[in-house]
Amino acid sequence: MTADPRPRTPLDLTAMKAAHRPIVMLTCYDALFARLLDSPDVDVLLVGDSVNQVLAGHENTLSATLDQMIYHASAVRRATRMLMFVDLPFLSYQVSVEDAIRNAGRVMQETGANGVKLEGGQAMAPTVAALVERGIPVIGHLGLTPQSVHALGGYRVQGREADAAARMQADARALEDAGVCALVLELVPTALATAISASLTIPTVGIGAGRGCDGQVLVLHDMLGLNESFTPKFLKRYAELGAAVRAAAHDFADDVRSGRYPDAKHSFE
Ligand code: KIV
Repeated sequence: MTADPRPRTPLDLTAMKAAHRPIVMLTCYDALFARLLDSPDVDVLLVGDSVNQVLAGHENTLSATLDQMIYHASAVRRATRMLMFVDLPFLSYQVSVEDAIRNAGRVMQETGANGVKLEGGQAMAPTVAALVERGIPVIGHLGLTPQSVHALGGYRVQGREADAAARMQADARALEDAGVCALVLELVPTALATAISASLTIPTVGIGAGRGCDGQVLVLHDMLGLNESFTPKFLKRYAELGAAVRAAAHDFADDVRSGRYPDAKHSFE
């Protein structure tokens, strides 16, 4: 299927929902992959704080810093003008609205991002409203919110019980009222994610939230098969680059040890 012209501003995301055009979002942390992803196939790049786990090897996202996010987002922006959102890391927006404005402002100013993403529901609505009023587009994030992994007792599906489902629906409404331009739903049962999506004007972007969302997001390194030990049910791998890297390193080692590399073609006379 050919891709439609891609969104240029955060407002285009709601227009895509209205036009029933699914939103395609991928995480991206560097200029190299940003260059490869810069095509009409991909609508939005997310510089996720998952970078702290995927590239930096931490157990969770909690130790990601604002400087780290700015470093990665700046690298992505040097390679592409695509629509780019950046995760606000843990503690950069929860302490006070002033902090959130200052830190989100730094992200916008120093990286050229089109907006930020933050986690949380009704409690974060005043913060979202303050950012939006100051011209900073915001994507919300509900369901499994990785910055709350300890409070949630691990990486597990959220909203299975009736009261939790009702709370998530109320959170989604509060975030829409506060002005988010989209909402990530992570590890949410399909029926609940579908109901939330149907109840909102802004689009939902699911990860492990079924096919009723208005778009889908995956962590790039997971869907490329680079993060080989990460095999959650929702993840579909579209390449096996981990195996390709292993095979390439093996072939290189073979060539070096057998004297096949470097040969004349790869040497200077
Ligand atoms: O940090 C991240 O990569 C994310 C996505 C999983 C949505 O928040």
